[in-house]
Amino acid sequence: MSGQTINGKEIVATIRAEIKKEVDGLIAQDLRPGLAVILVGDDPASAVYVRNKAKACEDAGIYSEVHRLPDSTSEAEVLQLLDKLNRDERIHGILVQLPLPKHINEVSVIDAISVDKDVDCFHPVNVGNLMIGKGDVLPCTPAGIIEVLKRIGAQIAGKHAVVIGRSNIVGKPLALLLLRENATVTVCHSKTPNIKEIARQADILAVAIGRGRMVNRDYVKPGAIVIDVGMNRMEDGKLAGDVDFDDVLQVAGQVTPVPGCVGPMTITMLLRNTVNSAKKAWRIPVGS
Ligand code: GUN
Repeated sequence: MSGQTINGKEIVATIRAEIKKEVDGLIAQDLRPGLAVILVGDDPASAVYVRNKAKACEDAGIYSEVHRLPDSTSEAEVLQLLDKLNRDERIHGILVQLPLPKHINEVSVIDAISVDKDVDCFHPVNVGNLMIGKGDVLPCTPAGIIEVLKRIGAQIAGKHAVVIGRSNIVGKPLALLLLRENATVTVCHSKTPNIKEIARQADILAVAIGRGRMVNRDYVKPGAIVIDVGMNRMEDGKLAGDVDFDDVLQVAGQVTPVPGCVGPMTITMLLRNTVNSAKKAWRIPVGS
């Protein structure tokens, strides 16, 4: 048996076209959503992600500005910039690219982002709202994964979803969103002794552990849907996900490719969050 590659590019293109249409409608009323991105330091992967985010904004008609700050920037300077952006009416979404340099406290910086402009859903108030199912901003990578599952027509309710990874950005919030969709959820991580056995019970297996090609066919139940969140630079210089794609495709039902699915979907959800945040600022009902 051989599984299918999920057509991430097509799903991304469809949703971005929907978002662009919505932005065109807002611009026709002289309303333009705006996103500010802060990048501190010179991490090459972060620089690529930030460039992709700015390009996606431009393509969708969303105003964006990128604040590239040197590694020597102090925490106080970042907080000062956030204070300015929090009060800037052109800006509806603020994103601080992580990781930050070691001398800057990530928690203090995230705390300083206005709850209403936190398009990453990293602020403790938004994370708390997510926990109790009240929030209307959803974290980008987990929301993108749920969207992919829905757009391929996957049933989530009643299924066993196994998440490998427990980060604040992906693993933990993804588990919450899968629960919200009525899946039965198991979270595994680096200290779980029998990951293979647990993963093999999954109808939906999401891997966000940050180890290139770790998950092979031994982790996969025949016919399962496998979502690969990883993006690793291998020793040979090639990019690879956390999933050994060719091997897993032999037993899985459907697998997301890397690159070309979860990464661009994350950015797509960022665009959606920015537009929704702008609509809330203008008192336009979200979803209209
Ligand atoms: N670093 C890795 N992923 C992300 C993300 O989704 N948002 C931000 N701000 N930083 C990240």
